[in-house]
Amino acid sequence: MICLGIESTAHSFGVGIVDEQCRILANETIMYSPKQGGIHPREAANHHADKGPAVLKLAMEKAGISKQEIDVVAFAQGPGLGPCLRTGATMARALSLTLKKPIVGVNHCVAHLEIGRGMFDCQDPVLLYVSGGNTQVIAFANGKYRVFGETLDIGIGNMLDKFGREMDMPFPAGPTIEKMARDGDQYLDLPYSVKGMDIAFSGILTAALAKKEKHKIEDISHSLQETTFAMLVEVTERAMAHLGTSEVLLGGGVAQNKRLQEMVTIMASERDARMFVPPGPLCSDNGAMIAWNGLLMNKAGVAHDISETKVDQRYRTDDVDVVWR
Ligand code: ATP
Ligand code: FE2
Repeated sequence: MICLGIESTAHSFGVGIVDEQCRILANETIMYSPKQGGIHPREAANHHADKGPAVLKLAMEKAGISKQEIDVVAFAQGPGLGPCLRTGATMARALSLTLKKPIVGVNHCVAHLEIGRGMFDCQDPVLLYVSGGNTQVIAFANGKYRVFGETLDIGIGNMLDKFGREMDMPFPAGPTIEKMARDGDQYLDLPYSVKGMDIAFSGILTAALAKKEKHKIEDISHSLQETTFAMLVEVTERAMAHLGTSEVLLGGGVAQNKRLQEMVTIMASERDARMFVPPGPLCSDNGAMIAWNGLLMNKAGVAHDISETKVDQRYRTDDVDVVWR
């Protein structure tokens, strides 16, 4: 069985092709980067509509398959930006109808988790999902992926990108902050904001920016990472302790950060647990994770009618019926 997945929840447009063994036959991504400021949803959607067909063509060539060999078409149904989601959904519908193959709408957040389970021999991990728009600690219980803790305001990646914008770093700022932080040697006090199982970032962002005049950017970057990553690790560890889980999986663009990986690894080893993190392109937004989740769903009998393929900008992780587990 071969599934083609389309990802278009935000600034990235991706097409991935996977088989039943979770082998990635192709995973092509193109990113819309606004010349300045944040993403304008309509402009990003126009970009996806312009470039999408070429990305699809390239993915098909890389996979070395013909259109007839595709068994299922999957797309990210939400959460995300409406116009961007609709562009991907429209392509998926067109493909499904012309190829006469089933279509499956996938939850983007759940796909970030499933690609990790597909790549590794991990059964029932707690997922720390850290991306631009999302920050959640997720685990499976009673047929659903439950959110055990999440950000109360902005996603950690958006926080890093906003910090970077004020500091004149290129977008996205996460990798630059990581590099700067390596040269930081002084820890500057920042508010530590864990509330129950939830976390908040906007106060820390304000406090970090206020240090701009008096401190080195390297030290602020270092302190920003140490503080926010410690918060993430604390909540993740508590979810693992509560559930008695000995596996932790990272996903989302921020999961590429080596310092975050190191901190989670230390926490995991202290609990005799194992840490898993997919390779970079499978952490950030990509079509392969959508394809893999779509394949799992279709194997479990899910095929959506076109009338069920409306996008859902606020599609919640815990709204998904996880029929494939
Ligand atoms: P989602 O729709 O799931 O919220 P997204 O659209 O934000 O995803 P991702 O590719 O998952 O897309 O994540 C992008 C984020 O990852 C950006 O905010 C970027 O700054 C951050 N990021 C990328 N590399 C690193 C890194 N090495 N360290 C920290 N953050 C990083
Ligand atoms: Fe994502």
